[in-house]
Amino acid sequence: MESIVIHGGRKLEGTLHVQGAKNAVLPILAACVLVNGVCVLHNCPVLTDVAAAIEILRCLGCKVRREGHTLIVDARVISRCSIPDSLMREMRSSIVFLGAMLARLGAAQLCMPGGCEIGSRPIDLHLSALRTMGVTVQEQNGNLCCKVPNRLHSSVIRLAFPSVGATENVMLASAFAKGRTVIYNAAQEPEIEDLADFLNACGCNVRIDAGAVRIDGVDSAHDAEHTVIPDRIAALSYMTAVAACGGDVCLKDVRTAHFASANEVFRQAGCELDISATQLRIRSNGCLRAVEHIKTQPYPGFPTDAQAAVMAMLCVAHGTSTMTETIFENRFNHVPQLRRMGAVIRTKGCEARIRGVKRLSGAHVHAVDLRAGGALITAALAADGVSVIEGVDHIDRGYETIEACYRTLGADIERSAGSGKQQSKQKQPVRQL
Ligand code: EPZ
Repeated sequence: MESIVIHGGRKLEGTLHVQGAKNAVLPILAACVLVNGVCVLHNCPVLTDVAAAIEILRCLGCKVRREGHTLIVDARVISRCSIPDSLMREMRSSIVFLGAMLARLGAAQLCMPGGCEIGSRPIDLHLSALRTMGVTVQEQNGNLCCKVPNRLHSSVIRLAFPSVGATENVMLASAFAKGRTVIYNAAQEPEIEDLADFLNACGCNVRIDAGAVRIDGVDSAHDAEHTVIPDRIAALSYMTAVAACGGDVCLKDVRTAHFASANEVFRQAGCELDISATQLRIRSNGCLRAVEHIKTQPYPGFPTDAQAAVMAMLCVAHGTSTMTETIFENRFNHVPQLRRMGAVIRTKGCEARIRGVKRLSGAHVHAVDLRAGGALITAALAADGVSVIEGVDHIDRGYETIEACYRTLGADIERSAGSGKQQSKQKQPVRQL
């Protein structure tokens, strides 16, 4: 089983290009199902979740070709309306294909996505919204059989929670619905805006304003070319490593407006930030201050996906920080692993209290979910000694060539074919800036 081996304690310096956004490219790939044509998508990161989405498209009958970070998706022929359980289980966010399949095909069979390491991840908001639009949904033995008896009709959808996935599913399902569909209390994440931009490039008619999304149905969608936005969560993960290790790093090709709420946390922790629209320079002397209270919230609040990595950074801050996770019910899986490295963290329900220590110590740890993996890398880079991180498959779901990225910044980090005990190491090609 692969592992990542890190000799910690080195400062990080240099320039890093930030990958395209996983959580933007996934719904945009699903949206390609709407298009009876060919779409060209740039800045698509090489991730296992993206590979899973490509497999779903191919399984539905699409042709998909990758040329570097560009994906060419030909959805002129869609030959089936079901997604195999194996692919649904590989990536629970496959549920976002549902809306596009209903709009294009009028039917969809797929298994319930099920929960994952960070929570039960129900889809009740998705299904109640689709039922409102005229979809019949049969749930049997963990499978979903969805049909559109007539044409999907435009509706007013009021989401009980600004669910990202539910917002995306309704945007896709309503693309061809007659009339105007309005989603109130919609998610406002940048990835939603990127999906709307892609849909409009395909000839759809989607407008976002003040927490509502308005979709005016069109008859069809056509070829489009689109560049996926940068990954704000990957950017924040790299920032936590620079903050914790100390150093001076410039992140390029980012959209700093997409993570403004988190930047304030780094300033409070004692980092210096120079920010322009598409670049961010972060400097840290490695001596951080605790941050009194961080609460994850829907966008534009502090992002839940950055909670683990920021916690790792605060493990070596001077003083006690408090973090409250309000989005997912089980998103502290990284805590026991951080404790193995010497972190002093107490959790009670959705609240974690982190009492900073002078140094963490390298240890053999296991990433149990994607963002926990990013957090363990941050902690290991800052720790004294050697860390071996297993569960690399989780990390590869959302971080492209993460070792190569950190190596360009001066980190001593390798992917090991074995469980970290063997020294046979594989170097990954460094993505050219
Ligand atoms: C998206 O997940 C992201 N994934 C997540 O990123 C991210 O953490 C999350 O949005 C919140 O920002 C992708 O975009 C692929 P939600 P999603 O629906 O759509 C509850 C990562 O690490 N809920 O906004 O699944 C749900 O249980 C991943 O990159 C319902 O109760 O998130 C959760 O508590 C992790 N019923 C909360 O809402 C529903 O029908 C937020 O879920 C849907 C959601």
